[in-house]
Amino acid sequence: MNSSQGSTSRREFIKTSGKSAAFSALANVAIPPVHAAGSDLIQVALVGCGGRGGGAAANALSVKRGPVKLVAMADLFPERLASDLNKLQQHFPSQVDVPPDRQFLGFDAYRKAMDCLKPGDIAIFATPPAFRWVHFTYAIQKGLNVFMEKPLTADGPTSKRMFALAQDASAKNLKVGVGLMSRHSRALQELADRVHNGEIGEIVLQRGYRMHGPGGYFLSLPKPSGITDLLYQVKRFHSFIWASGGCYNDFYIHIIDHLGWMKNQWPVKAQALGGRHYKVSPEGVAYVDQNFDVYSVEYTYSDGTKFFFDGRCMNGCEEIYTSCLQGTKGMGIASKSGDCGLPSSLYKSQTATPADLIWESKVSPDEKDPYQNEWNDLMDAIRDNKPYNEVKRGVEASLVSSMGRMAANTGREIAFDEMLQCEHDMAPNIEKFTMDSPAPLVADTNGRYPVPQPGIVTTREY
Ligand SMILES: NC(=O)c1ccc[n+]([C@@H]2O[C@H](COP(=O)([O-])OP(=O)(O)OC[C@H]3O[C@@H](n4cnc5c(N)ncnc54)[C@H](O)[C@@H]3O)[C@@H](O)[C@H]2O)c1
Repeated sequence: MNSSQGSTSRREFIKTSGKSAAFSALANVAIPPVHAAGSDLIQVALVGCGGRGGGAAANALSVKRGPVKLVAMADLFPERLASDLNKLQQHFPSQVDVPPDRQFLGFDAYRKAMDCLKPGDIAIFATPPAFRWVHFTYAIQKGLNVFMEKPLTADGPTSKRMFALAQDASAKNLKVGVGLMSRHSRALQELADRVHNGEIGEIVLQRGYRMHGPGGYFLSLPKPSGITDLLYQVKRFHSFIWASGGCYNDFYIHIIDHLGWMKNQWPVKAQALGGRHYKVSPEGVAYVDQNFDVYSVEYTYSDGTKFFFDGRCMNGCEEIYTSCLQGTKGMGIASKSGDCGLPSSLYKSQTATPADLIWESKVSPDEKDPYQNEWNDLMDAIRDNKPYNEVKRGVEASLVSSMGRMAANTGREIAFDEMLQCEHDMAPNIEKFTMDSPAPLVADTNGRYPVPQPGIVTTREY
């Protein structure tokens, strides 16, 4: 790998496509002996060429322990694939080798892209989450290592499937990274050690907030002509629970995940409020997505302690996007701002006043970016042949997210096991989807899809 080439432009690319904070310079990094499928080159295929897919591919091409090449790409839409390919080619000219015959489109494109790899190479999954289990099944068959984006599941049946697949992957000694990058934040890693060592006593309360204006595909207008229902729902996946778990799972999972980590367990149940307030566009057209504008969730841990999570996608309200924990001897701030924003800190009182500061994280510049760290950690495991499989806890974090969402959507307390056992398979036959398949959600004559009705529809979410 030409390590000095284009480092500034690489940095810019990663910044704009992976929310990353810093870039690990490749200059002067000696390439060690490797154990990847008998060759020192690891090839990568990207499945899902959107914002995060491009960012994850850039992180893959920037790992400390190369060499790595991107050799195949898959998407449903040619313009998405072309856009990521162009950007990656510009920023990593010597590491992108994806000629037209290794660019694949369609619901079976994932197979063709993975067919370009050899065992020990890496497949990246950055499509909407509903496809995760389908793509993972094939990667395991092919003996591929995987990096898959969060969330991993939105319902009970696919969570069970993913738990089983996680075991299959470990049985084949495959390494699997999951894009819950908080776990690779060096600040949160040190915070977890300190909290688990009792520096603020027993954790008795946690709070998480993600409140900002509508973003991503949170809102959707009725389907326009010229696109099928299925492709519309896949494209605007944050709007539809089957595709992503809705905004609740997609946006809130990071804070839910790292607060569970700090507590060293998952909540056992949730009860929640939620509502749709402003579901009409400025032009007076009703939005047809399935999201609530607000969610207020009370999670309970097995020791009776609580974790309160507030999510809001509304303009004009106060924006709060942070996570914190209260212990018997003080408090901690996990993410100062954002999903896992630096610094993390601990205080000897219940208020975050500078005079009471016990500890504030300090992270070396080349490890400030958790999106790059998660790739360096995965690559270390591959090169050194160390066990590495983040899928089980990724499914658990997805289930805890779904449990909060289902509690709000039904108006009922939902236990972790009830979420796992819930039989509502939200995207049946997804493994057989073609461009002409019917969509999992059917619109009424006004173009509206079923929305949650707490207290009325209570054994499933819609
Ligand atoms: N870890 C993070 O902080 C983070 C940040 C952003 C997104 N994500 C996750 O990454 C995933 C993608 O999100 P995004 O923001 O990049 O969305 P996006 O819409 O920008 O990209 C998704 C891409 O997948 C393609 N696609 C959809 N179904 C496909 C299929 N069956 N086969 C092949 N391609 C398919 C779409 O056409 C699109 O190009 C989501 O799971 C999201 O939660 C994670």
